[in-house]
Amino acid sequence: MNRPAPVSARLPEFTWDTLDAAAGLAAAHPDGPINLSMGTPVDPVPALIRQALADASDAPGYPLTAGTPALRDAIAAWVARACGAGVDGLGVLPTVGSKELVAWLPTLLGIGPGDVVVVPSIAYPTYEDGARLAGATVVRADSLTAVGPTPRVRLVWVNSPGNPTGRVLPAPHLRKVVDWARERGAVVASDECYLPLGWDAEPVSVLSPEVCGGSYDGVLAVHSLSKRSNLAGYRAGFVAGDPALVAELLKVRKHAGMIVPAPVQAAMVAALRDERHAEEQRERYRARRAVLRAAFAAAGFTVEHSEAGLYLWLTRDEDCWETVDRLARRGILVAAGAFYGPAGARHVRAALTESDERVAAVADRLRG
Ligand SMILES: Cc1ncc(COP(=O)(O)O)c(C=O)c1O
Repeated sequence: MNRPAPVSARLPEFTWDTLDAAAGLAAAHPDGPINLSMGTPVDPVPALIRQALADASDAPGYPLTAGTPALRDAIAAWVARACGAGVDGLGVLPTVGSKELVAWLPTLLGIGPGDVVVVPSIAYPTYEDGARLAGATVVRADSLTAVGPTPRVRLVWVNSPGNPTGRVLPAPHLRKVVDWARERGAVVASDECYLPLGWDAEPVSVLSPEVCGGSYDGVLAVHSLSKRSNLAGYRAGFVAGDPALVAELLKVRKHAGMIVPAPVQAAMVAALRDERHAEEQRERYRARRAVLRAAFAAAGFTVEHSEAGLYLWLTRDEDCWETVDRLARRGILVAAGAFYGPAGARHVRAALTESDERVAAVADRLRG
């Protein structure tokens, strides 16, 4: 039988599987592993969000792909507050978490073989996966001058605050990217899922007037409630920006059945209207970050960037797998920097997503 080549053959090995050996080592610690390898929230879903989900659980009919009017309003109001964006002419669309949008955006935008997608040199792997699913070519670059005269750049990903580095891109940098892309008719997709987590720097949205000049032409901001509101398990995200691009995404997503479930839409409304729970969660992360940062610095690690977001970007100036192994022997599991591109090969990433008690134990384990 002549089967087509498997789609998975276009994708790299699923990176997390390569951590299995280290996970086994960390699990052997007598007090159990401290898992800082994934940015998966561990604190409870706030009660008001769970209530909204439960109240909307009688949902026999199909939900709207575009989102309920209440959700669309709540997204626009949040974007206005958090991104400093005007809501006039702003397109908004809920997504099933943001990872699916990241993975399918090139395909949904009609990008394909012969087209180029630019991703940060050290990046969340799904930008590259999405380009590969579409059959496009990936170029890793942090400055567009490094992209050179490459033809057919169709999409440029930026990610500030960045995963894994915690780096914040200043407004003039983002502005240059937007200008560069507009001159070439390329789209700028700005993954802003860590925007509410600024510590030593104030993250700026691509939708802010100082970046996009008050026009949403060619720009999309990708947001997630996974980290802000502990909703990773609900799969709740959205995209906002260029109304023509968002309308096109909606058209295709309607055909493809990429719909946020009705109870989750109701939960998103409650989450977006409330800043209090987000502020409380932010303070938890602020406290954990201070403890972890001090513990790793005392153990001889250099903390690079990390001025915002959910991670510490650490190095001992050795190969990342040596560091992963060294920490795993002490019962601490971190992500290898190599997951995020060749430029991350001498770093590891530690997430702020463990309980206060486990975070407090890190310093002792590093000393012991
Ligand atoms: C940079 C970045 N973008 C997107 C996502 C996806 O988040 P979600 O699908 O939970 O919204 C993550 C998850 O960790 C991430 O780090």
